[in-house]
Order: sequence, then structure tokens, then C-alpha cells
Amino acid sequence: MKKSDDLARARAQHQKLGEEIAAHDRAYYQEDAPVVSDADYDALRRRYEALEKQFPELADEESLSRKVGAAPAEKFAKVAHAVPMLSLGNIFSDDEVEDFVARVRRFLGLGGEAELAFTAEPKIDGLSCSLRYEKGLLVSAATRGDGLVGEDVTANVGAIDDIPEKLSGGAPEVIDVRGEVYMSHADFAALNARQAAADKPLFANPRNAAAGSLRQLDPAITAQRPLKFFAYAWGAAEPDMPADSQMGMMAVFHAFGFKVNPMTRVCYGARDMLAHFHDIESRRASLGYDIDGVVYKVNDLALQRRLGFVARAPRWAIAHKFPAERATSVLREIEIQVGRTGVLTPVARLDPVTVGGVVVSNATLHNEDEIARKDIRIGDTVIVQRAGDVIPQILGVVPEKRPDDASPYQFPHVCPACGSAALREIDPKTGEPEAARRCTGALVCPAQAVEKLRHFCSRNAFDIEGLGDKQIAFFYEKGLIRTPADIFTLSERDRQSLTKIENFEGFGKVSARNLFAAIEARREVALNRFIFALGIRHVGETNAIRLARSFETFDALRETARHAAPGSEARQRINDIDGIGDVVAEAVADFFVEPHNERALDALLAEVRILPMEAVKSGGAVAGKTVVFTGALQKMTRDEAKAMAERLGAKVSSSVSKKTDLVIAGAEAGSKLTKARELGVDVIDEDAWLALAGAAAG
Ligand code: IVH
Repeated sequence: MKKSDDLARARAQHQKLGEEIAAHDRAYYQEDAPVVSDADYDALRRRYEALEKQFPELADEESLSRKVGAAPAEKFAKVAHAVPMLSLGNIFSDDEVEDFVARVRRFLGLGGEAELAFTAEPKIDGLSCSLRYEKGLLVSAATRGDGLVGEDVTANVGAIDDIPEKLSGGAPEVIDVRGEVYMSHADFAALNARQAAADKPLFANPRNAAAGSLRQLDPAITAQRPLKFFAYAWGAAEPDMPADSQMGMMAVFHAFGFKVNPMTRVCYGARDMLAHFHDIESRRASLGYDIDGVVYKVNDLALQRRLGFVARAPRWAIAHKFPAERATSVLREIEIQVGRTGVLTPVARLDPVTVGGVVVSNATLHNEDEIARKDIRIGDTVIVQRAGDVIPQILGVVPEKRPDDASPYQFPHVCPACGSAALREIDPKTGEPEAARRCTGALVCPAQAVEKLRHFCSRNAFDIEGLGDKQIAFFYEKGLIRTPADIFTLSERDRQSLTKIENFEGFGKVSARNLFAAIEARREVALNRFIFALGIRHVGETNAIRLARSFETFDALRETARHAAPGSEARQRINDIDGIGDVVAEAVADFFVEPHNERALDALLAEVRILPMEAVKSGGAVAGKTVVFTGALQKMTRDEAKAMAERLGAKVSSSVSKKTDLVIAGAEAGSKLTKARELGVDVIDEDAWLALAGAAAG
């Protein structure tokens, strides 16, 4: 084999790995949403660096081994670091610690006898931040970004207690204090509980939660997130360094009013460093925050200066990473949980096993495809990993330990909570089924019930005053309201019952009477609201209006949708409605063919009367007009504005043309506004739009 062939092959592989790493860097640093575990990422990096070691010509200017992190996200103002914020090289084994020490000694030309001190401290799993103090006052704060330019988060760090606004004691003229912003396990769990309650996406781990919380455009959001900070490094310092050792700098930071990690020690040589490494590792599970290794640093700052840097990392420091925490256990059962949006999630039930000091008996299996891809079967011995993330994962199975009678896992096609069909939608972009399988029993599924009932009663649906989120959850729990029809039989059942609602805590005669009156007032409802209230997937207000306008009566819609099998004329009839595509048509059909929903609908229809679609005020200035929204709206979201316009009978378009009647321009509107002006289309601002819409709605 020719040497040039080897190089060409290595170059191709280097390029491919580089692209993969860069994509992971973007996901991790800019989007705070990594898609691989830290251990997998480190493995990619190691392969990349090994190639460069073998073929040094690959380590050119563009090499990722010279770069740190990812460029700052566009949405933040940028801050150039006076002194670059570097990264650390990684090592993974005890031997490599000895190599590191030997390398440093060799570089410094130290003889066998000469003493060389290192500090060893936990590597905090958060995000690094550089804080500039001038005359002792905090003047700016920045994330690492790509190491040279970071994101300006000055307004955000104000609420972090561990970051003083003013340094105590004699502060130098200028100093950049650097360290790690992180979130404790307890605060992370509480934050995720709040996210869940507000139906917002959960953070995968404390690091993402910390990064997502610090990198907020609205500092008020950061202020609600409990972040912490450990100081461990510095950038510029003028007129001179306030100490001459790493440990001395830690003492100075402490005197300034910062937290420094209490497990920081001075060690003399590899044996000492390893002992401390294993000590920290053994305490890892009980620290209350995530660490992913131990950082060793040459203690003497004069020696640090002599050692200097290579590429993206100092020669005088290194990160000794903990191995990914893995163990094997037996998979006893796969439990299917149904989320509030109807997604079926498989959870592995394992024989309890200790992984990195934590007892694990559940692990996520992600989705159906993942189980099939790894061919995970009940009874299998599986490899469990905890790698930074709090939710353990199943990496794969140990094939030799598979019991003879283990059969491939069949993912259920019915919802375990309600028995309705559970389906996978086809992603229209890829033509492939979506990863998630969802329950179609919108009206009957207990796992989704409270959510669906809330939606049913919400302002733009049945608009039942007095049945807010809290009351619905309460009545659901008491078994008094389980499906929408139950709302309308509540007062009658209450009349016949011995345990009266008026006697429940928080109620009384008056509030019970008001509630029943509010429900009675909504026994008649416009068709579009009724359709919207059903909570059919993909059928929001706009599509509900489209369906209502097209079918005119609920019976007509129901009759068609019931027979709307794929390829049928009925399916085509729905699909043909302007603005309704395959995905919505399929969701509508799936909802109406589900027998559980049929029964719930019959019960509901026995209680309410459906009125024709809400009259679009014909005198309204926007009915029948084509409108375009552009720029940033301040008082409502784009979706809200769009729904409002459609409710008023307008057609919303995304581009400006001669057919456009009106352009609503928010802040910083760009090319669409210019085009509207060129074409002489009427342009109004957001306030004028609200006034117009208000007048049109009467
Ligand atoms: S020292 C020039 N010490 O690890 C050396 N870094 O993988 C500056 N980190 O970007 C870094 N704990 O975000 C240092 N005790 C510690 C650390 C630490 C966490 C992070 C830091 C750095 C990354 C490198």
C-alpha cells in the first residue's frame, strides 16, 4: 500500500470526524442541546487527535485541535477576551498521569530529585465564564465562545450569588476572574419540575440547564434560575499577579469573596495526584453537583509561564476524566409511559445496579426504533451507562448472556393507558415515520386527560370560566370529571350526590353556583370552537376554522372523517381544503376512527348544542383581506397574530406581492417592508393592527 493512499484515506476520515465533531460542538455550545454523551464525544476527539499524531500534516490551521468550543451565538453581543480562554487536554488513565508529569518535568529540564508541585481539583461540569473587574467592580461577563470571542452575559450574572458585584479586600486595577457556572442537582430537579408543570421542555442534565439559564436574552429568566459559580482561573491581571502560585490565586479569589472548590489540594507527583483523583471520584456521587474529572495544574505560576501553551490547551494543566460509568444488569421489563401529549416512551426496568455510586433501576430506551436497532429484549443482560446525564441510558446488550427464549420486543400499537390506537405519523419532510408513537385517544386517555380537559375549557375553546387548571386537576382527581361530557353533567350529579362540591375545601355555596352557571352558559358553542376544543393533533384554531368553514356542520365533518381511510375519497375531501395538508388530514381521520373517541363524542354531543361557525364580522376591516406580518412583534407571538387575523376572516400570507392588502410591520422589519412600500401596499404597525383587530372583532 502506498504511503500517499494511507494519507488520503486518513485525510478523508479526519475530514469526516471533523465535521461530526463540529456539529456536536454547535449542538453543545450554541444550542445547549448535545446529542451524544460526553464519553462518546471524547472518543471522537481522541480518534481525531490520534490521526493527527500519525499524520502531522493533517494538523493544519483549520484543525479542530487548534480550536475551542464554538463561535458565539449571533443573538448575543460579543466580547473579545483580553487573554484567550483555553481548553484543556484530556487524559483517561493512571498511566497517562505519569506521562503528563514526566512531560512537564522534561520540558522544564527538572532532574530526578527536584520537587514539582501540582494542584488537583474537581473538573466542574458547567460552562466557563470570564468576569472582568476594574477597580474591584464587575464591569463585564462573557461566556467562552470560541475562546477568543465570547457572548456578553453581563446582565445575566448579576443574579448569581456566588459572583460578587464588588471584590472585597485590596483588588487590583484590572482582573479577569474565570471559573465555572453550574447548577446543583437539587436546583436542577426543582427547575425541571417547574418546567414540567409549565409544560415546557425539560433539560437533559444540569450542565445544559446551567448553560440554557445563563445564555438567556432576558436576564429576568436567568434570575429565576439558581446558578452557582466556582473560581479557578484568570485572564488579564494588572498591574501584576496578586499571587505566585495556583493555590495562592485560589486564596486570593476566596478573599475577593468567591467560592473556590474545597477539594483543591497541592500534590507532589503522580502517586499523590492519583490518590487525590480516586478520593474525589469516590465522593463524586455525594457532592450534589456534577463533576466529570479532575484537573491537574502546575502550582508555580513562573513555571506555568515557562511551560506555555500548545494549540488550544496549556502545557501546564490537563483534565483527567472519569471513565464513563457503566455496569451491566438484567432487563426485567419494558414499561411504556404515556406523556401528557400522548407520546409513548419506553422505560427499562432493571435489576438494581450501582453505576458510579448511584443505584440505578430504570433507564431510558428513547423510542421504538432505538430498541429495534439495538435489538434489546426482555431478559437480556444490558450495559447501562451514566455519563454526566442524570437519566441513565442502555448502550446495548451482552449477546452471550441472552436467554434462549428471549424474543424480539414488540412495541405496543395500543396505548397502555386507554387502549386507543397508538400510531406513528409520517414526517412529511422525510417521508419516514416519526420516532414517537402517539396515542390517538385524545378525549379518553387518562394520561392526557387533564391536559386535554384544560385545553377543552380554555379561552379560545369552550371558554368555561371557573374551570381553570387547578380546578380541572382537582375534579379529575376526585373522579368527578374524566371526559368533556362529564363537565356538563357535573351539576346534575352534584344535585343527586351526598358529597356536594360546595363542601369541598376552597369552594362554598356561591362558588359552586357560579361554576355551574358558567358551565350552563357554554352549552352552546360555535362549530369552530367545538372542533378546536377536541384537541385533535395539528388542529389548532386556524385549522379548526378551515374545517368548520368547509364542512359547515359537525355531522358533516364527522361523517367524512370517519370514512377517511388513506387513499379514500373522504380523505381527499379533507385534504382538498385550502391550507390543510396530508399531516392534518391524517390526524383528523385518526381521531374520528378511534372508537373510544367516538363514544366520548356521542356523550358530549348529548350535552351541548353546536352553533354555526362564529360569524366573522363582515364589517371588519380585515375580513377577506390578505395580510402579511413582518418584523418582530412585541405584544403577541407570530402564531397568535396569525390566528387572530384568521379568526377575523383574513388570509395570512408569508410573502408580499401585488395581492397583499395590508402589511403589519413590527420592529426591525426588513425586505418585506421595503417591498410593500415599493408596491404601494398599506403598512401599519403593531398597535394600529391591534386597534383594527379589536374594532373588527367588535
Ligand atoms: S482550568 C487554561 N479548572 O473544563 C485552563 N477548567 O475542558 C483553564 N473546567 O473550559 C481551565 N472545572 O470550562 C479548569 N477546575 C477547573 C475546571 C475547568 C471545569 C472546564 C472549563 C474548561 C474546560 C476544559
